[in-house]
Amino acid sequence: MSVQSPKALLSFLNAEHCDTVLWRMSDLKKCIPAERARDIPPFIVMDVLEKAQDLERQGRRIIHMEIGEPDFPTPACICEAAENAIRKGHTHYTHSLGLIQLREAVCRHYLEKYGVTINPDQVIVTSGTSPALFMIFAALLEAEDEIIISDPHYPCYPNFANFLKARPAYVSVREEEDFQYRAEDIRKRIGDRTKAILVNSPSNPTGMLLSPDRMAGIADLGPYVVSDEIYHGLVYEEKEHSILEFTDRAFVLNGFSKAFAMTGWRLGYIVAPGEFVRPLQKIQQNFFISASSISQWAGVAALTSAAADVERMRGIYNERRKYLIQRLRDMGFALKAEPKGAFYILVNARHLADKSYALAFDILDRAGVGVSPGVDFGQNAEGYLRISYANSLENIKEGMDRIESYLKSCS
Ligand SMILES: Cc1ncc(COP(=O)(O)O)c(C=O)c1O
Repeated sequence: MSVQSPKALLSFLNAEHCDTVLWRMSDLKKCIPAERARDIPPFIVMDVLEKAQDLERQGRRIIHMEIGEPDFPTPACICEAAENAIRKGHTHYTHSLGLIQLREAVCRHYLEKYGVTINPDQVIVTSGTSPALFMIFAALLEAEDEIIISDPHYPCYPNFANFLKARPAYVSVREEEDFQYRAEDIRKRIGDRTKAILVNSPSNPTGMLLSPDRMAGIADLGPYVVSDEIYHGLVYEEKEHSILEFTDRAFVLNGFSKAFAMTGWRLGYIVAPGEFVRPLQKIQQNFFISASSISQWAGVAALTSAAADVERMRGIYNERRKYLIQRLRDMGFALKAEPKGAFYILVNARHLADKSYALAFDILDRAGVGVSPGVDFGQNAEGYLRISYANSLENIKEGMDRIESYLKSCS
């Protein structure tokens, strides 16, 4: 027999077949998913997206500003490299660390862009930044160890830590301070079990960039720094910095999903301190074997031939960013800090509602615009909405017009 839900389990146990209940209870336990799978929270933004898709199926036109996914197609030179790889038969497992051509391209990229020298032996190519995060956390954190994470933060960070029985330790970042981490606040949070500090600049959900002096301050604190650099390349008016400019005691994780519009290719990489490469390689071999060979050849083209495409997309994102900032301010949202990277704006909507979950679903229902509830990104973002500008300017304009009408209907 299979038990689908706790309710079904209860009604089964209340059944009159007491003589066989003991046997059945042990049998039932085998049908219940493991605690770690039961406890992992859902990605709330996916709830919004799925509701939006339900409405679309009913014939509604929805403007999607909830999704963290580029709306551009993957640049042609990258697609051609993948087609060539298939044609040439590069369709098998690769070295578990990744193609040497791609690892060398990563090293050249970090040298040219940030002036840092890394060795291809320190680079582990992964099936996206998400597996890279999981692998780093698994290699670094024992049960009960702590990793410092900003609040707000990308929702998966604490979920990965909890999944591994480690603990997220939150440090607040505030809009009045441009959502910047402060080394003094982090220092107060460091304890015996602190293994690492996670930084994400530009950040999801705030779009903020850590200043170089703050990065230097964090690098000096002592614990390893895990730096999620996935939004590098999508920076406006300022310049992004890699953690490797400030310390070698760091893990960089980066990927091709965002700047190269390659979410579906599932490609990323880790740059790790030498002593962690072999453990990470063993995790890769056991869990993933290698990243996709075809995507890796596409990745080589991305790093060597797609600079003009990235620049073009960045220019368009910037136009949308400026437009959105202006529209939000005109509608009465107080944006204390202007986001300088990624494609998100985290906007304070506490004057409209305390609970961002209910607000986001109300905006979806009544205005037909998908936005992400801030609560998905931590307690400090409750009352905020994350608005993504990974959508055409035309759609963003329509989305803002709809939200403006929604606000008028509420007042
Ligand atoms: C901050 C951050 N890190 C990692 C990821 C995961 O990216 P990938 O597609 O490379 O797994 C995302 C995706 O939205 C992200 O926003």
